[in-house]
Amino acid sequence: MSTNRAAFLIFTGLMVGIGAIFSIFGEWEKVETASKVVAPVETELVSRSHRVQGDVKEFKNTDLKVSFLGDAGCVNCHVQETESFRKHPMGRSMCKITDFAALPKKEPFVAGNFRYSVETKDKAVIHIEEEIDSSGKVLKKIEKPISLVIGSGTRGNSFLTEKAGFLHQSPISWYTSLEKYDLAPSYQSKNLHFGRQIQEACLFCHSNRPETNHDNSIVLHGLTIGCERCHGPGELHAKEQKLVNGYDPTIVNPAKLSNSRKDDVCYQCHLQLEAREEAPGKSLTDFRPGQDIETFITRNKIPIGDPLARFKAVSHVFQMEESRCYIASEGKMSCTSCHNPHDYRNDKDRLAEAIKKCNSCHADKGCSLPMPTRLVKSPADDCIACHMPKRNTVDIGHTPLTDHSIKRLTSAYQTMKQDVQPKQAP
Ligand code: HEC
Ligand code: HEC
Ligand code: HEC
Ligand code: HEC
Ligand code: HEC
Ligand code: HEC
Ligand code: HEC
Repeated sequence: MSTNRAAFLIFTGLMVGIGAIFSIFGEWEKVETASKVVAPVETELVSRSHRVQGDVKEFKNTDLKVSFLGDAGCVNCHVQETESFRKHPMGRSMCKITDFAALPKKEPFVAGNFRYSVETKDKAVIHIEEEIDSSGKVLKKIEKPISLVIGSGTRGNSFLTEKAGFLHQSPISWYTSLEKYDLAPSYQSKNLHFGRQIQEACLFCHSNRPETNHDNSIVLHGLTIGCERCHGPGELHAKEQKLVNGYDPTIVNPAKLSNSRKDDVCYQCHLQLEAREEAPGKSLTDFRPGQDIETFITRNKIPIGDPLARFKAVSHVFQMEESRCYIASEGKMSCTSCHNPHDYRNDKDRLAEAIKKCNSCHADKGCSLPMPTRLVKSPADDCIACHMPKRNTVDIGHTPLTDHSIKRLTSAYQTMKQDVQPKQAP
């Protein structure tokens, strides 16, 4: 499961920066020639029309006047939920370098005319860039102390330097599956050295509540993604807890939200930047759980009918929306059908849990491929391996993601070992 996962963070470089555009096309070409799939390009985002609002509940903490408490305001009353969330990669999305578990020591690596190394002195971590000539002689040396780390490390980490609220990305990233440092994502095509300033958009998805000052410096209200990003501000709830008609109107429990509003909580960060614009006069930072996110953003048309174009990093939303399961179950399927941020198990158990979720809807009308054939190809009858295989993303090669479009026939199935006639029982 974790094989190649680190390469995943390569996409992050594509989120900002113009250099990224070139690598998108570079990789695109490779994927296209490698794949034999030819499909008509649909440019309409058809899936939006399948969002179902359903029974909408009113919450008092969607009012912008209600204050945030930070995670410290929840932990005393919700010890269990706090612990379970910290086990999820989202509950470990960002930290100070001093709270970061030390990575194994590695040899320097060379990229073009530059040599990169990482040094640890006591608790300090220094990233070093040396410009070298062909004989290996050092022409110039830059040393930068690292302050912050992005990423749980499930796939990898980006490292940031900080000076008076100005954050810059290090050209050195950690790739978990390769177990090594290498150039930061997209820096192969355009090395930005220590010069890329980190903007709010990046931290809106990776940290709790970033805020940009007039001078473009950034204040971080909480590092790791916090409780209130999914539950809304807690000021009223901490003062009084009361269930009214089965729910507490002072705090949002996503499990009790109707249909698409549940997903909107996740869409804050799981909907690709390219897939949306802020609506005129609106800011996504004003979105509160319980609201309709499409009041704050307009969805861009994504060519979702094109199996190549749609398969990019952070593309789970429109893959799911495109699936027959999502469309035909008319609002019953959401991200939380299969993912609970408070229940993160090991790879094997997560898979077993996901298969249970398939069967919860497919108990009556299940797989049409006869069981003996399925078992030959997949002894564990692994629905995911055949219908949700991992594939490389198209914006960056070698960057596998789980295909959430849940197709009948996938290339993974087609390349599985040939059917053999099951042995007759004696
Ligand atoms: C003073 C103790 C206290 C604090 C502080 C507190 N909670 Fe609660 N919370 C409760 C109690 C008691 C309940 C169960 C009764 C209820 O839902 O009203 C609850 C229920 C909830 C629910 C479920 C509501 C539902 O409708 O099912 C959520 C979600 C929740 N809390 C999240 C939070 C978050 C997030 C914070 C921090 C911003 C927080 N709580 C702070 C005591 C607290
Ligand atoms: C639209 C939200 C969004 C933006 C913007 C974004 N990311 Fe991400 N990032 C994600 C999500 C979601 C994942 C999880 C994998 C996925 O869905 O593709 C992720 C994964 C990562 C990972 C791997 C973490 C791990 O260990 O699993 C790193 C590192 C990372 N991003 C860094 C960055 C950096 C640095 C930036 C800004 C320069 C950035 N990302 C911009 C949403 C975003
Ligand atoms: C990424 C989104 C997300 C974050 C962040 C998050 N939660 Fe939750 N939380 C959920 C979802 C989704 C549910 C509903 C789970 C279910 O029952 O399906 C939930 C449920 C809850 C409940 C209700 C549990 C119950 O038994 O009904 C409480 C209380 C709660 N969360 C507290 C917290 C606290 C405290 C934090 C911060 C440490 C936190 N949550 C962070 C998404 C989140
Ligand atoms: C504040 C932004 C934000 C919100 C809101 C959010 N996510 Fe995430 N999510 C992320 C980021 C960033 C990552 C990558 C974390 C990492 O590995 O460092 C991630 C990772 C994940 C993963 C991958 C876990 C793994 O195995 O690596 C799942 C599943 C997920 N989120 C589901 C959800 C669901 C479901 C919701 C809504 C209830 C949600 N997220 C809401 C930002 C967010
Ligand atoms: C919320 C309920 C729900 C869940 C969960 C669910 N499905 Fe479905 N799925 C459906 C419905 C409804 C259909 C449409 C059935 C029909 O057309 O008769 C469907 C259709 C399908 C199809 C046919 C797709 C096509 O294009 O014809 C496949 C394959 C499939 N599901 C596999 C899965 C797998 C594998 C999982 C677990 C990862 C899963 N489903 C989880 C409801 C669900
Ligand atoms: C039908 C079940 C199902 C639904 C619905 C679903 N997922 Fe997943 N998701 C999976 C499975 C299975 C995996 C791979 C196993 C794992 O990592 O837990 C996965 C993995 C992920 C990952 C880790 C990176 C990757 O691609 O392997 C992220 C992030 C994620 N899902 C986000 C989402 C978001 C956001 C939604 C809603 C738009 C969503 N998922 C809806 C089943 C589902
Ligand atoms: C070895 C690969 C494999 C495994 C394992 C597998 N499937 Fe399938 N499934 C297929 C193929 C191939 C088809 C298309 C067969 C056809 O065209 O009739 C299919 C068809 C389906 C359909 C469409 C049924 C219809 O009537 O149109 C559903 C739903 C489905 N599978 C669900 C599942 C679920 C749920 C699981 C796990 C319990 C599962 N599959 C396991 C390969 C697999």
